[in-house]
Amino acid sequence: MLDVTRIRQDFPILARRVHGKPLVYLDNAATTQKPRQVIEALVTYYSQHNANIHRGLHALAEEATAAYEGARERAARFLNAQTRGVVFTRNATEAINLFAQAWGRANLKPGDEILLTEMEHHSNLVPWQLVAQATGAQLRFAQITDDGRLEVERVRRVLTPKTKVVAFTLMSNVLGTITPAAELVRLAHAQGALVLVDGAQAVPHMPVDFAALGCDVLVASAHKMLGPTGVGVLAARPDLLESMEPFLGGGEMIADVQLTSATWNEVPWKFEAGTPHIGGVIAFGEALAYLERLGMANVRQHAMDLTRYALERLAAVPGIMLYGPRDVVQRGGAVSFNLEGLHPHDVGTVLDGEGVAVRAGHHCAKPLMRRLGVAATVRASFYLYNTREEVDRLVEALRAAQAFFNRPVRSAA
Ligand SMILES: Cc1ncc(COP(=O)(O)O)c(C=O)c1O
Repeated sequence: MLDVTRIRQDFPILARRVHGKPLVYLDNAATTQKPRQVIEALVTYYSQHNANIHRGLHALAEEATAAYEGARERAARFLNAQTRGVVFTRNATEAINLFAQAWGRANLKPGDEILLTEMEHHSNLVPWQLVAQATGAQLRFAQITDDGRLEVERVRRVLTPKTKVVAFTLMSNVLGTITPAAELVRLAHAQGALVLVDGAQAVPHMPVDFAALGCDVLVASAHKMLGPTGVGVLAARPDLLESMEPFLGGGEMIADVQLTSATWNEVPWKFEAGTPHIGGVIAFGEALAYLERLGMANVRQHAMDLTRYALERLAAVPGIMLYGPRDVVQRGGAVSFNLEGLHPHDVGTVLDGEGVAVRAGHHCAKPLMRRLGVAATVRASFYLYNTREEVDRLVEALRAAQAFFNRPVRSAA
């Protein structure tokens, strides 16, 4: 069990008022708030240790390098991946582009197939469109069920001997759906395809074990798990990284450089061209330490409890349409919905006036919006510091939105 009252004291921003009301922050799928331990790690780095890493011979450079590489070790432990297989990027998006470009361009050819799902974030869709255009490979899609689940059988139907890579989200940022990843990995590997798992939403909210999943690549974003923006992580099998050409060229990723050619550094540094977000990576290490202290199983339990409560309360709001699975075992705490007759942006604006921060829009998943038959949804997404009282505030604010736009209130579905 999480001690949410104590946890909230670690997050200075949660004491804020917005439009005169106590802030209820329910936009965690977009980015999470930061505990003071993470904020202090940034301040300490810049006020005590700031230096460029790896190259320097002086004390500050050594301290910064040790802290940066320490964060890599912690990330590897957190994900149960090998340290040599952990590459820091700018975000999950860059991690997916890295793999799609560096592996895809060298290994895909016309006639090959890239298998994705209908509910991918644009970040796990557009990079594959680019690599398909460059290589002549074809994009294929596994369909989801009407309640937003990804069934193994539907993936099996579109997986063929031509499938060379399968890339899917472990948790949908719109529907909350958790996909049967380990089973899908086995299925894809049996066809000889590699698997990239987009863990941008799952890794912050549930225990995710790279080795147990068995996938080839797993990506995540620090800012969605208490860390700073500007840091992403790619975990991969080191031998796979070794077999790949670099994604970006420049300083740090080389072993030697001649005027017309170069040789590459060892992995993971081969994929970290230029000066990285050193302070950000170090602060990300603090975020991981914070999550480890809480225990990811407890974080997941809290999400399930809160999501169950939220789904119950929301389902009782007249004229609401809820998207995604109803069973909290099959989903995380991103809850998308619409109110009959109200535009999601109008709902979001009224909620903001009540101090309740949610997201309204297509959530960078336009094909999924089309599949759901809507242009946009309202999304409330929870994290470890959210409470039942905040869910109540959300529901009250939704009723305020309905009253504001003077909608007739019909009985609950
Ligand atoms: C499922 C999923 N994948 C990828 C991303 C991209 O993350 P970032 O914008 O941090 O690169 C997001 C962000 O919302 C996401 O929800």
